[in-house]
Amino acid sequence: MSSRIAQIRLVSSHSEVYEPCDDSFALVDALLADRKNLLEHKPTLCMEVGCGSGYVITSLMLMLGEEANGAQFIATDINHHAVRVTQETMEAHRVHAELINTDIASGLENRLAGLVDLLVVNPPYVPTPEEEVGREGIASAWAGGENGRSVIDRILLVALKLLSKRGWLYMVTLTANNPSQICRQMRKKGYDSRIIVQRSTEEESLHIIKFWKDFDIEVDAKDVVLNSNAAPAGVMDSVLSQLHRLSFWRSSDVNSSRSGK
Ligand SMILES: C[S@@+](CC[C@H](N)C(=O)[O-])C[C@H]1O[C@@H](n2cnc3c(N)ncnc32)[C@H](O)[C@@H]1O
Repeated sequence: MSSRIAQIRLVSSHSEVYEPCDDSFALVDALLADRKNLLEHKPTLCMEVGCGSGYVITSLMLMLGEEANGAQFIATDINHHAVRVTQETMEAHRVHAELINTDIASGLENRLAGLVDLLVVNPPYVPTPEEEVGREGIASAWAGGENGRSVIDRILLVALKLLSKRGWLYMVTLTANNPSQICRQMRKKGYDSRIIVQRSTEEESLHIIKFWKDFDIEVDAKDVVLNSNAAPAGVMDSVLSQLHRLSFWRSSDVNSSRSGK
């Protein structure tokens, strides 16, 4: 059984590209923790938005391995240096994905609408002044605007278009992003959610949340745009109850298997 992930020594780098960090490791650990389900799910089209160094998409390809059975992989990044670094990282690991230098999935939305079975995102989530969002280079890796939600909310809107009916989304969020509100908003769109990994450092508390379509959830047909004020009274899904316990959590979730580092 293959459970390899990208080796840090083979991950390429550039001064303007985000290096694999705690959030990248937490996302890969979440995917590893859910690997058995992912293999059973048999995603045919897998995508990463914001691939940075390529550590996450390469790890995903390696952990699914031959069992992915012809799945296609696509990754995008707004930073053109990141696209080149990801290409180098993938070549070093002998894997291949289609890499596109674009804003989220701009130019791909028609082609990929309703087709993506697996979407992974470690977005720029750090709360910053709004004017810092969308700057060139490394700043685009973390600048998240108000509550760190500017890029996240745009990505979620695109995700709703791209995900297939059986599509799964794994996304990194920070406490400051108000993940429980994100889950309520996604629930209004018919998505259930679960925290796969929680990780606290002195600086931040990260949650890797998995979203999937739950056809039992009633969706308001008029509710076509994510509404940041949305918080239907009484909604208390599994993620919300998990989030309440978050402050007591310490990093012991998944045995990290970054053995290749
Ligand atoms: C926190 S870094 C994560 C990098 C990598 N996925 C990882 O986990 O190590 C966020 C990445 O998203 C990219 N990014 C930021 N805004 C974006 C946008 N609008 N569209 C596509 N990529 C974006 C950044 O350039 C950066 O590479």
